[in-house]
Amino acid sequence: MKGKLITLEGIDGSGKSTITSFLNSHPSFANAVFTREPTTSWIGDAVYKAIQSDTDELAELMLFTADHADHIATLIRPAIEEGKIVISDRYSDSRYAYQGVTLKERMEEPMEWIQMIHRGWTIVPDLTLLFDIDPSVAVQRCGKRGEQTKFEKIDLLKGVRENYLKLAEKEPERFIVIDTDRELKEIEKDVLQAITSIIES
Ligand code: TMP
Repeated sequence: MKGKLITLEGIDGSGKSTITSFLNSHPSFANAVFTREPTTSWIGDAVYKAIQSDTDELAELMLFTADHADHIATLIRPAIEEGKIVISDRYSDSRYAYQGVTLKERMEEPMEWIQMIHRGWTIVPDLTLLFDIDPSVAVQRCGKRGEQTKFEKIDLLKGVRENYLKLAEKEPERFIVIDTDRELKEIEKDVLQAITSIIES
């Protein structure tokens, strides 16, 4: 039996990491493979170097995309073919949403172009949970974690959120939008329900 790919998406400060830790320690997912993008490979390290500097936005997209290709080849595809449940903290939609903003001065319809260059080789998730939050609340949360990266600026995050919501609207069968302006327990309940129903389907 083929496995399932579940991805967690949202702007910085959306509470995605808290939910990832919750799932990671939940007994139902003891056999699941937890992973993330940017990855922990040398390409992922290069991505972090790019984020922390003034790297050209197109070069940055290519690095993120190279990291994704390597992630699929070395971990995602083999795990799914072995029948595993794979849960990835960020995946292709991060590129569509974030680089869809950072490249908007460089080309028309950057989000569609980035989706197009993924087509034919990326693996589309079975379920994507989008953790939705008001960017001003998210920025306050990021601020508490210390120095902001260039991706944690409010104007950029507003655009990223819009892109995420557009993606969710276009593919309602894949996305579940989770309102994170609620008690953590309620969010955890919705997340568990969504993942369980996709695993059992
Ligand atoms: P992280 O905060 O989840 O470690 O991700 C690092 C930053 O990189 C975060 O601000 C989101 C951003 N990002 C992109 O811009 N494009 C991508 O494709 C990915 C995976 C992350």
